Amino acid sequence: MSASVEVRRLTTPQDLFQAAAEEVIRVATAAVAERGRFTIALSGGSTPRNLYTLIAANASTGLPWAQIFFFWGDERHVPPTDPESNYRMAQETLLSKVPVPPANIFRIPGENPDASAAAEAYEQTLRKFFVPAPGEFPRFDLILLGMGPDGHTASLFPETEALQEKSRLVVANWVEKLNTSRISLTVPVLNAARQVAFLVGGADKAAVLHEVLEGDAPGEKYPSKLVRPSEGKLIWFIDRAAASELSPAV
Ligand code: 6PG
Repeated sequence: MSASVEVRRLTTPQDLFQAAAEEVIRVATAAVAERGRFTIALSGGSTPRNLYTLIAANASTGLPWAQIFFFWGDERHVPPTDPESNYRMAQETLLSKVPVPPANIFRIPGENPDASAAAEAYEQTLRKFFVPAPGEFPRFDLILLGMGPDGHTASLFPETEALQEKSRLVVANWVEKLNTSRISLTVPVLNAARQVAFLVGGADKAAVLHEVLEGDAPGEKYPSKLVRPSEGKLIWFIDRAAASELSPAV
């Protein structure tokens, strides 16, 4: 099991974004004070959009932006200008609004027509930045994750090949039901983080959240269950609608 798991129940989606924004700012400030830098992997999807907007509004001058390094947990197989691009979303809502040096932003090259080559290139980017020892994985200060209604997280979809990966940092993952490749960090990278935060809001996530937090089904079926940082902290930020099928004890 994880070193530490916390479920933070918030009421409205706005409360969830607020709590998550405060957590990002707290962890960033502490990481810079302790280790001189903060490394974060961003997620895509609609939930983080509001979080990024809030961070930009609240902390555009209060954070040590030159010491903050941005990465992505996953990317769609599209160029950075595409409306589907996770990089583009973060750029529009947060990165273009704060004084972060462009050299601190490490996006996944989703424009590469060969998704495996894009994954390999991003793996090299991570290896160069983090310089993990052989057999070790980069240790992000914070990885932000969402969860799809099928239990996927990052671009680790149910019953896909990427779930089995034990040594690579980044892989291309073919997702049959979307008829596309996605590029994703692997489970060992997620589990090597100092902290992982899931943001889950809305009634369409209630059933799957119950399965993930309380069910017996295997992680291959609900990949979010595979996220258990071995020496890190895992926090679930959930709103009331998403929590509606959880037992009170969770
Ligand atoms: C992506 C994601 C993905 C997302 C979930 C939840 O690129 O789509 O990184 O894993 O976080 O699908 O998305 P929502 O927050 O939009 O529900």
